[in-house]
Amino acid sequence: TDITVIGVPLHYGADRKGVDLGPDAIRGANLHERLHALGYAVEDAGDLRVDRTLQPPAPGEKLKYLAEIARVNKELYAAVADHMGKGRFPLVLGGDHSIAIGTIKGVLSRVKRLGVIWFDAHTDVNTEATTASGNIHGMSLAAVLGYGHPDLVSIGGTDAKLRPENVVIIGARSVDPGERAFLKEKGVKVFTMHDIDKHGMKQVMEDAMAIVADGTDGVHLSLDLDSMDPGDAPGVGTPVTGGMSYRECHFAMELLYERQLLVSAEVVEVNPMLDHHNKTAVAAVELIGSAFGERIL
Ligand code: ARG
Ligand code: MN
Ligand code: MN
Ligand code: MN
Repeated sequence: TDITVIGVPLHYGADRKGVDLGPDAIRGANLHERLHALGYAVEDAGDLRVDRTLQPPAPGEKLKYLAEIARVNKELYAAVADHMGKGRFPLVLGGDHSIAIGTIKGVLSRVKRLGVIWFDAHTDVNTEATTASGNIHGMSLAAVLGYGHPDLVSIGGTDAKLRPENVVIIGARSVDPGERAFLKEKGVKVFTMHDIDKHGMKQVMEDAMAIVADGTDGVHLSLDLDSMDPGDAPGVGTPVTGGMSYRECHFAMELLYERQLLVSAEVVEVNPMLDHHNKTAVAAVELIGSAFGERIL
Protein backbone atom coordinates (compact mmCIF):
# COMPACT_ATOMS: atom_id res chain seq x y z
CA THR A 1 0.00 0.00 0.00
CA ASP A 2 1.12 3.51 -0.85
CA ILE A 3 -0.31 6.18 1.41
CA THR A 4 -1.28 9.76 0.57
CA VAL A 5 -1.65 12.13 3.51
CA ILE A 6 -4.11 14.99 3.00
CA GLY A 7 -4.38 17.75 5.61
CA VAL A 8 -7.65 19.64 6.10
CA PRO A 9 -7.09 22.57 8.51
CA LEU A 10 -10.78 23.27 9.01
CA HIS A 11 -12.26 24.43 12.31
CA TYR A 12 -15.54 25.97 11.16
CA GLY A 13 -17.48 22.74 11.70
CA ALA A 14 -16.57 22.84 15.38
CA ASP A 15 -16.74 26.65 15.60
CA ARG A 16 -13.69 26.58 17.85
CA LYS A 17 -10.18 27.54 16.87
CA GLY A 18 -7.19 25.24 17.28
CA VAL A 19 -8.51 22.13 15.57
CA ASP A 20 -7.32 23.75 12.32
CA LEU A 21 -3.80 23.14 13.68
CA GLY A 22 -4.50 19.40 13.88
CA PRO A 23 -2.80 18.33 10.63
CA ASP A 24 0.55 19.88 11.59
CA ALA A 25 0.26 18.64 15.19
CA ILE A 26 -0.13 15.10 13.85
CA ARG A 27 2.69 15.50 11.34
CA GLY A 28 4.78 16.97 14.17
CA ALA A 29 4.22 13.79 16.18
CA ASN A 30 6.23 11.93 13.52
CA LEU A 31 3.46 10.43 11.47
CA HIS A 32 5.55 10.00 8.34
CA GLU A 33 8.54 8.50 10.15
CA ARG A 34 6.22 6.02 11.84
CA LEU A 35 4.64 4.89 8.58
CA HIS A 36 8.00 4.75 6.79
CA ALA A 37 9.35 2.52 9.55
CA LEU A 38 6.49 0.12 8.81
CA GLY A 39 7.58 -0.05 5.18
CA TYR A 40 4.97 2.18 3.54
CA ALA A 41 5.67 4.65 0.79
CA VAL A 42 4.13 7.91 2.03
CA GLU A 43 3.43 11.02 0.00
CA ASP A 44 2.09 14.19 1.56
CA ALA A 45 -0.35 16.17 -0.57
CA GLY A 46 -0.14 19.09 1.86
CA ASP A 47 -3.14 20.95 3.23
CA LEU A 48 -6.31 22.06 1.50
CA ARG A 49 -6.80 25.81 1.59
CA VAL A 50 -9.34 27.18 4.06
CA ASP A 51 -10.56 30.80 4.14
CA ARG A 52 -9.41 32.17 7.51
CA THR A 53 -11.29 35.46 7.28
CA LEU A 54 -14.96 34.56 7.72
CA GLN A 55 -17.17 36.64 9.98
CA PRO A 56 -18.96 34.84 12.83
CA PRO A 57 -22.48 33.65 12.01
CA ALA A 58 -25.64 35.24 13.40
CA PRO A 59 -26.73 33.92 16.81
CA GLY A 60 -29.02 30.91 16.48
CA GLU A 61 -27.68 29.94 13.04
CA LYS A 62 -28.33 26.20 12.53
CA LEU A 63 -25.72 25.58 9.81
CA LYS A 64 -22.74 27.70 10.83
CA TYR A 65 -20.25 28.44 8.02
CA LEU A 66 -22.16 26.15 5.64
CA ALA A 67 -20.78 27.67 2.43
CA GLU A 68 -17.08 27.35 3.35
CA ILE A 69 -17.53 23.90 4.89
CA ALA A 70 -19.30 22.69 1.74
CA ARG A 71 -16.61 24.23 -0.49
CA VAL A 72 -13.71 22.64 1.41
CA ASN A 73 -15.46 19.28 1.52
CA LYS A 74 -16.01 19.36 -2.25
CA GLU A 75 -12.28 19.86 -2.70
CA LEU A 76 -11.57 17.07 -0.28
CA TYR A 77 -13.96 14.77 -2.11
CA ALA A 78 -12.12 15.43 -5.37
CA ALA A 79 -8.68 14.94 -3.79
CA VAL A 80 -9.63 11.65 -2.14
CA ALA A 81 -11.26 10.36 -5.34
CA ASP A 82 -8.16 11.35 -7.30
CA HIS A 83 -5.61 9.70 -5.01
CA MET A 84 -7.70 6.56 -4.60
CA GLY A 85 -8.08 6.42 -8.36
CA LYS A 86 -4.29 6.11 -8.52
CA GLY A 87 -4.48 3.12 -6.19
CA ARG A 88 -3.32 4.97 -3.10
CA PHE A 89 -4.63 4.81 0.46
CA PRO A 90 -5.93 8.23 1.55
CA LEU A 91 -5.08 9.19 5.13
CA VAL A 92 -6.90 12.42 5.89
CA LEU A 93 -5.85 14.60 8.84
CA GLY A 94 -8.41 16.99 10.35
CA GLY A 95 -9.59 19.43 11.19
CA ASP A 96 -13.01 18.95 12.68
CA HIS A 97 -15.26 15.99 11.94
CA SER A 98 -17.26 17.80 9.24
CA ILE A 99 -14.47 16.71 6.86
CA ALA A 100 -15.84 13.16 6.99
CA ILE A 101 -18.33 14.32 4.36
CA GLY A 102 -15.64 14.99 1.77
CA THR A 103 -13.53 12.00 2.73
CA ILE A 104 -16.34 9.45 2.68
CA LYS A 105 -17.91 10.80 -0.52
CA GLY A 106 -14.51 10.59 -2.18
CA VAL A 107 -14.02 7.00 -1.04
CA LEU A 108 -17.57 6.11 -2.12
CA SER A 109 -16.75 7.27 -5.64
CA ARG A 110 -14.21 4.39 -5.80
CA VAL A 111 -15.73 1.81 -3.46
CA LYS A 112 -19.47 1.66 -4.09
CA ARG A 113 -20.29 -0.77 -1.31
CA LEU A 114 -18.45 0.81 1.58
CA GLY A 115 -18.45 -0.01 5.29
CA VAL A 116 -17.60 2.69 7.86
CA ILE A 117 -16.26 2.28 11.40
CA TRP A 118 -16.85 5.56 13.23
CA PHE A 119 -15.07 5.95 16.61
CA ASP A 120 -16.63 8.84 18.51
CA ALA A 121 -17.95 9.97 21.88
CA HIS A 122 -20.78 11.47 19.82
CA THR A 123 -22.78 10.08 16.92
CA ASP A 124 -22.75 13.10 14.55
CA VAL A 125 -26.17 12.38 13.08
CA ASN A 126 -27.80 15.73 13.73
CA THR A 127 -29.31 17.79 10.93
CA GLU A 128 -30.25 21.47 10.85
CA ALA A 129 -33.63 20.33 12.20
CA THR A 130 -32.25 18.66 15.34
CA THR A 131 -28.95 20.42 16.15
CA ALA A 132 -28.71 22.49 19.31
CA SER A 133 -25.25 23.91 18.51
CA GLY A 134 -25.48 24.59 14.77
CA ASN A 135 -22.03 22.99 14.47
CA ILE A 136 -21.74 20.98 11.28
CA HIS A 137 -19.20 18.53 12.77
CA GLY A 138 -22.21 17.10 14.62
CA MET A 139 -24.01 16.47 11.29
CA SER A 140 -21.44 14.76 9.07
CA LEU A 141 -22.52 11.16 9.47
CA ALA A 142 -26.15 12.08 8.77
CA ALA A 143 -25.02 13.95 5.65
CA VAL A 144 -23.14 11.00 4.15
CA LEU A 145 -26.18 8.81 4.84
CA GLY A 146 -28.23 11.27 2.77
CA TYR A 147 -29.87 13.44 5.44
CA GLY A 148 -29.48 17.15 6.10
CA HIS A 149 -28.89 20.26 4.03
CA PRO A 150 -28.72 19.68 0.23
CA ASP A 151 -25.40 21.58 0.02
CA LEU A 152 -23.86 18.91 2.28
CA VAL A 153 -25.80 15.86 1.08
CA SER A 154 -25.09 16.57 -2.61
CA ILE A 155 -21.27 16.75 -2.27
CA GLY A 156 -19.71 14.31 -4.70
CA GLY A 157 -23.07 13.48 -6.28
CA THR A 158 -25.90 11.43 -4.89
CA ASP A 159 -25.68 8.07 -6.72
CA ALA A 160 -23.00 6.53 -4.48
CA LYS A 161 -24.62 6.18 -1.07
CA LEU A 162 -23.47 5.01 2.30
CA ARG A 163 -26.06 2.60 3.71
CA PRO A 164 -26.97 2.70 7.41
CA GLU A 165 -26.58 -1.10 7.72
CA ASN A 166 -22.92 -0.75 6.68
CA VAL A 167 -22.02 1.71 9.46
CA VAL A 168 -21.04 1.10 13.07
CA ILE A 169 -20.32 3.72 15.72
CA ILE A 170 -18.02 2.75 18.60
CA GLY A 171 -17.47 4.61 21.88
CA ALA A 172 -20.62 6.72 22.00
CA ARG A 173 -21.59 8.32 25.30
CA SER A 174 -23.09 11.68 24.33
CA VAL A 175 -26.10 11.34 22.05
CA ASP A 176 -28.66 14.12 21.51
CA PRO A 177 -32.40 13.28 21.63
CA GLY A 178 -32.87 13.84 17.89
CA GLU A 179 -29.86 11.65 17.17
CA ARG A 180 -31.28 8.81 19.27
CA ALA A 181 -34.42 8.84 17.14
CA PHE A 182 -32.40 9.00 13.91
CA LEU A 183 -30.15 6.07 14.82
CA LYS A 184 -33.11 3.92 15.75
CA GLU A 185 -35.16 4.84 12.71
CA LYS A 186 -32.32 4.31 10.21
CA GLY A 187 -30.93 1.24 11.98
CA VAL A 188 -27.34 2.41 12.57
CA LYS A 189 -25.57 0.01 14.95
CA VAL A 190 -23.98 1.80 17.92
CA PHE A 191 -21.58 0.15 20.35
CA THR A 192 -21.75 2.50 23.32
CA MET A 193 -19.27 2.74 26.19
CA HIS A 194 -21.69 0.52 28.07
CA ASP A 195 -21.25 -2.21 25.45
CA ILE A 196 -17.45 -1.89 25.69
CA ASP A 197 -17.64 -2.13 29.51
CA LYS A 198 -19.92 -5.13 29.32
CA HIS A 199 -18.42 -7.21 26.50
CA GLY A 200 -14.89 -5.91 26.21
CA MET A 201 -13.17 -4.35 23.23
CA LYS A 202 -12.30 -7.70 21.62
CA GLN A 203 -15.92 -8.80 21.35
CA VAL A 204 -17.13 -5.35 20.31
CA MET A 205 -14.54 -5.15 17.53
CA GLU A 206 -15.33 -8.66 16.28
CA ASP A 207 -19.04 -7.81 16.11
CA ALA A 208 -18.36 -4.40 14.57
CA MET A 209 -16.01 -5.73 11.91
CA ALA A 210 -18.44 -8.52 11.00
CA ILE A 211 -21.11 -5.87 10.36
CA VAL A 212 -18.99 -3.50 8.24
CA ALA A 213 -17.38 -6.33 6.26
CA ASP A 214 -20.70 -7.94 5.40
CA GLY A 215 -21.54 -7.28 1.75
CA THR A 216 -18.97 -4.50 1.35
CA ASP A 217 -15.76 -4.14 -0.69
CA GLY A 218 -13.79 -2.09 1.81
CA VAL A 219 -14.01 -0.22 5.09
CA HIS A 220 -13.28 3.40 5.99
CA LEU A 221 -12.02 4.30 9.47
CA SER A 222 -13.28 7.62 10.84
CA LEU A 223 -11.41 8.24 14.08
CA ASP A 224 -12.62 11.13 16.22
CA LEU A 225 -10.03 11.51 19.00
CA ASP A 226 -12.77 12.48 21.47
CA SER A 227 -13.74 8.79 21.43
CA MET A 228 -10.76 8.32 23.74
CA ASP A 229 -10.98 9.27 27.38
CA PRO A 230 -10.03 12.94 27.90
CA GLY A 231 -7.36 11.77 30.34
CA ASP A 232 -5.55 10.10 27.43
CA ALA A 233 -6.62 12.59 24.75
CA PRO A 234 -7.24 15.99 26.35
CA GLY A 235 -6.70 18.02 23.18
CA VAL A 236 -10.20 17.90 21.74
CA GLY A 237 -12.90 20.57 21.48
CA THR A 238 -15.82 18.53 22.82
CA PRO A 239 -14.39 16.19 25.49
CA VAL A 240 -16.72 13.74 27.23
CA THR A 241 -15.73 11.91 30.42
CA GLY A 242 -15.70 8.12 30.45
CA GLY A 243 -14.16 7.25 27.10
CA MET A 244 -12.08 4.44 25.70
CA SER A 245 -8.75 4.01 27.41
CA TYR A 246 -5.52 4.32 25.50
CA ARG A 247 -5.14 0.52 25.66
CA GLU A 248 -8.66 -0.17 24.42
CA CYS A 249 -8.28 2.17 21.49
CA HIS A 250 -4.83 0.86 20.66
CA PHE A 251 -6.07 -2.74 20.76
CA ALA A 252 -9.04 -1.87 18.54
CA MET A 253 -6.64 -0.51 15.93
CA GLU A 254 -4.48 -3.65 16.10
CA LEU A 255 -7.55 -5.82 15.56
CA LEU A 256 -8.52 -3.67 12.58
CA TYR A 257 -5.12 -4.25 11.02
CA GLU A 258 -5.39 -8.02 11.56
CA ARG A 259 -8.61 -8.15 9.54
CA GLN A 260 -7.15 -6.06 6.67
CA LEU A 261 -10.41 -4.30 5.91
CA LEU A 262 -9.34 -0.68 5.60
CA VAL A 263 -9.23 1.20 2.28
CA SER A 264 -9.08 4.71 3.77
CA ALA A 265 -8.87 6.52 7.10
CA GLU A 266 -9.24 9.92 8.70
CA VAL A 267 -8.16 11.25 12.08
CA VAL A 268 -10.13 14.25 13.32
CA GLU A 269 -10.76 16.71 16.15
CA VAL A 270 -7.15 16.91 17.39
CA ASN A 271 -6.85 20.41 18.88
CA PRO A 272 -3.28 21.19 19.97
CA MET A 273 -4.35 24.51 21.52
CA LEU A 274 -6.31 22.59 24.16
CA ASP A 275 -3.65 19.90 24.59
CA HIS A 276 -0.72 19.24 26.92
CA HIS A 277 2.59 18.65 25.13
CA ASN A 278 0.84 17.46 21.96
CA LYS A 279 -0.38 14.38 23.84
CA THR A 280 -3.46 13.90 21.68
CA ALA A 281 -1.60 14.09 18.37
CA VAL A 282 1.00 11.68 19.75
CA ALA A 283 -1.82 9.29 20.69
CA ALA A 284 -3.33 9.74 17.23
CA VAL A 285 -0.05 8.72 15.61
CA GLU A 286 0.23 5.72 17.95
CA LEU A 287 -3.24 4.65 16.89
CA ILE A 288 -2.49 5.13 13.21
CA GLY A 289 0.69 3.09 13.66
CA SER A 290 -1.31 0.25 15.18
CA ALA A 291 -3.95 0.40 12.45
CA PHE A 292 -1.13 0.10 9.89
CA GLY A 293 0.54 -2.91 11.46
CA GLU A 294 2.83 -1.74 14.24
CA ARG A 295 3.40 -4.44 16.86
CA ILE A 296 5.30 -4.58 20.15
CA LEU A 297 7.56 -7.43 19.04
N1 ARG B 1 -23.90 16.50 19.41
C1 ARG B 1 -23.21 17.74 19.58
C2 ARG B 1 -23.59 18.71 18.46
O1 ARG B 1 -24.25 18.31 17.53
C3 ARG B 1 -21.71 17.55 19.63
C4 ARG B 1 -21.10 17.08 18.36
C5 ARG B 1 -19.62 16.83 18.50
N2 ARG B 1 -19.10 16.31 17.28
C6 ARG B 1 -17.80 16.10 17.08
N3 ARG B 1 -17.45 15.67 15.88
N4 ARG B 1 -16.91 16.34 18.01
O2 ARG B 1 -23.23 19.86 18.52
MN1 MN C 1 -17.25 13.27 15.70
MN1 MN D 1 -16.89 13.53 18.82
MN1 MN E 1 1.40 0.78 18.91
